[in-house]
Amino acid sequence: MCGIVGGVAERSITNILIEGLKRLEYRGYDSAGLALVSEGQLLRERRVGKVINLDTAVEQSDIHGSLGIAHTRWATHGKPTENNAHPHVSGKIAVVHNGIIENYQVLKQKLQDLGYVFSSETDTEVVAHLIADALKENNNLFAAVEKIVPQLEGAYALGIVHTDYPDELIVVREGSPLVIGVGIGENFISSDQLALLPVTNRFIYLEEGDMARLTRDSIEIFAHGQAIERPVKELDATVSHASKGEYKHFMLKEIYEQPEAIQQTLSQALNGNTLRDDFLKDAEADFSQIKQVQIIACGTSYHAGMIAKYWFEQLIGLPCQVEIASEYRYRSPVIVADTLYVCVSQSGETADTLAALRDTQKRAAANNINIATLTICNVATSSMVRETNHHLLTLAGPEIGVASTKAFTTQLTAFMLLVLKVGQTKQQISAAQLGEIAATLWHLPSVILKTLQFNNAILNLSELFVEKNHCLFLGRGTQFPIALEGALKLKEISYIHAEGYAAGELKHGPLALVDNEMPVVILAPMDDMLDKLKSNMEEVQARGGELFVFADENSEINSKDRQHVVQIPTISTWLAPIVYSIPVQLLSYHVAVLRGTDVDQPRNLAKSVTVE
Ligand code: F6R
Repeated sequence: MCGIVGGVAERSITNILIEGLKRLEYRGYDSAGLALVSEGQLLRERRVGKVINLDTAVEQSDIHGSLGIAHTRWATHGKPTENNAHPHVSGKIAVVHNGIIENYQVLKQKLQDLGYVFSSETDTEVVAHLIADALKENNNLFAAVEKIVPQLEGAYALGIVHTDYPDELIVVREGSPLVIGVGIGENFISSDQLALLPVTNRFIYLEEGDMARLTRDSIEIFAHGQAIERPVKELDATVSHASKGEYKHFMLKEIYEQPEAIQQTLSQALNGNTLRDDFLKDAEADFSQIKQVQIIACGTSYHAGMIAKYWFEQLIGLPCQVEIASEYRYRSPVIVADTLYVCVSQSGETADTLAALRDTQKRAAANNINIATLTICNVATSSMVRETNHHLLTLAGPEIGVASTKAFTTQLTAFMLLVLKVGQTKQQISAAQLGEIAATLWHLPSVILKTLQFNNAILNLSELFVEKNHCLFLGRGTQFPIALEGALKLKEISYIHAEGYAAGELKHGPLALVDNEMPVVILAPMDDMLDKLKSNMEEVQARGGELFVFADENSEINSKDRQHVVQIPTISTWLAPIVYSIPVQLLSYHVAVLRGTDVDQPRNLAKSVTVE
């Protein structure tokens, strides 16, 4: 999981950068590096592996500087080698980067045509060369960065230094977290405030699209080219990583962390648009044998499994069943040979899921039936991870809010990666299709970022729910589980009774509930079912129901009387359920806040259900 630390000070900041990187180690990474500006020179060290390797190298070379940037990299584009480790350099410029530059290949080609030579396989290096090129026309580092940023597509955060600007650290936040640590006569940056707690407890949280120029004594922030003030927030000394930061609730923070969380989950599996050679390597023998998949989970994790069923069957033709663990464990299901049992769990400790797993393993062993087990989980040390043959981690970071948000979308991301891996192992997916889906997966963080920009529109809609007692969520195909998930989110944190339905079921019962008082939330991405869904919407309107539609921007569904539409950016049908999770999470969140409930710890619920 990539991490950024940087600073500009009077003193040498070498040790501060190394300590900062160590504090980010828990996020996972495969190489680390730093660059310091000292007496007009750029001093750089990079190492594959642990930060301690970098630390030793830096100690030996004894490099120091009062301006610098550092990075832990989890390889996305290009293998985990020293050459690919950050910072990346172009002449006198050094850059660290979290996130993805989606259009780097086009930019790289242009820069190569201009004579720039690349020394890495990364998407990051284009940023360094672009800045170098922009500086040819304008002798101002900040202006050069400002000029190139509009050319970068994707979700990212950048830290930039230049030897001719020895008191200047430039940062950009566009979809990846970045915080400024405010010191006295020194200032710092990081992707996570945790890294800076040894040097300050005063933070400025940059917003999406912000750029900043830090010197030892000043911090200038710009939004869309205009200077802007952002508040300095002081954290109390006991603050830990489990801090809400600039957010009012953990749930909101976790909703906003999704672009980064998804990107981290992707990083462990993809190298560019192919699967990494080491991704689930040990599971290949099992995957090549399996004839079907059985998913077992509870709650939100079960909804993730429901979507994965569509993917396993439609994308790679592998039969897949999904069942709620509390049912599965007590009905003595037939154990079928050559089945891959997949447990899905944020915590990895959920009692029913764990019991269902143990029971399945016991009965398979007793009857000599060959099965394989795999856990999709957010906690690396959990029981489920330890007790299954294989595991795939969702790298969402700690989820504190009881209502699952980033754990859910990273579970879906992990599931898609699993489907691709199983499909590739069983030769059930072409390299072209795999590459196409991988490219869309990398595109997900930026689509989610764009979707998050509808937060205010969704807040406005939420006001219309405050007085309601009931609500229906409708979707078709992979949006049916999102309808269930939306209803679950709304009921658990706002205490409004909500039901999710497959829209095709409307006429078979729930339509009887629809009247003037019934808000109906519709999930309407661009897919084969859109016309049928539009008919369902008419059925609701004819009975006086009020529609709240999250619709693809090209769906031609527009707002009108008693029909409120939020237009969601277009995304491939495969990944639409991940994107449409965002508006239902935001809607539930805002309704709950307006109703004054305890959003992060709703009544009667616990984060980890370790008892039956
Ligand atoms: C709902 C929610 C729960 C959990 C369920 C399973 O927002 O968080 O429904 O999904 O309790 O928990 P895990 O995923 O830890 O097994």
